[in-house]
Amino acid sequence: MSQLIAFEGIDGAGKSTQIPRLQKWIEAHYRARVVVTAEPTRGEYGAQIRSAKTRLAPVAERDLFRFDRREHVEKVIKPALERGEIVITDRYFYSSVAYQGTRRDAFEREPTTTDFLNLQNDILAENRAIAPEADILVFVAIAPEVALSRIDSGRAARDPFETLQTLAAVDEVFRRIVAEHPHAVVVDGTADPDIIAQSIAEQIEAIWRRDMVR
Ligand code: TYD
Repeated sequence: MSQLIAFEGIDGAGKSTQIPRLQKWIEAHYRARVVVTAEPTRGEYGAQIRSAKTRLAPVAERDLFRFDRREHVEKVIKPALERGEIVITDRYFYSSVAYQGTRRDAFEREPTTTDFLNLQNDILAENRAIAPEADILVFVAIAPEVALSRIDSGRAARDPFETLQTLAAVDEVFRRIVAEHPHAVVVDGTADPDIIAQSIAEQIEAIWRRDMVR
């Protein structure tokens, strides 16, 4: 049973605590090999993204994440799915829609809501052309204010209000994507980690039992 499971959430939501737990749970309950991976990757384009000293220009950033993802899909995700494995990825193209799709500076004039929706749809389409949809989308939900207080203050060199607004916009896009995904799993990122892990496992089990032929 090959499955692609994508974890998404704003920075500080706690995805990285939950991914190894889900991996262990699947391995214990299903006879399947689980591959855990992440974006941006450690490949050529991922390295360019990580090494940028300042935030990249909107088009460059959008392109680099897409090039990185294309490589990730071809080299890691597709081969694993073809071997019948379960792939869990820490971030996927939904992050591009949410993060690159909320950049004000992608526009020459003050953007309207429609401008942002068009940008997000373009990013979605160009990614769907190179990457398969996630079978299951796990969203670790957390209020932007809570996320900010969890993020190391040393990292927040920007105006805190701007940062909060940015995160809130990203969060809003994630919630829309989640509402439209046929197999979305939503958990409260502020709950106890054990409770979150249990909730993710139960929701995935319910999806597999209900919707997927094994
Ligand atoms: P990462 O280093 O994995 O941080 P985190 O632990 O928060 O997931 O990701 C770095 C940042 O990259 C994160 O703020 C989200 C952003 N990102 C995008 O803007 N677009 C994308 O397509 C992806 C995959 C990540």
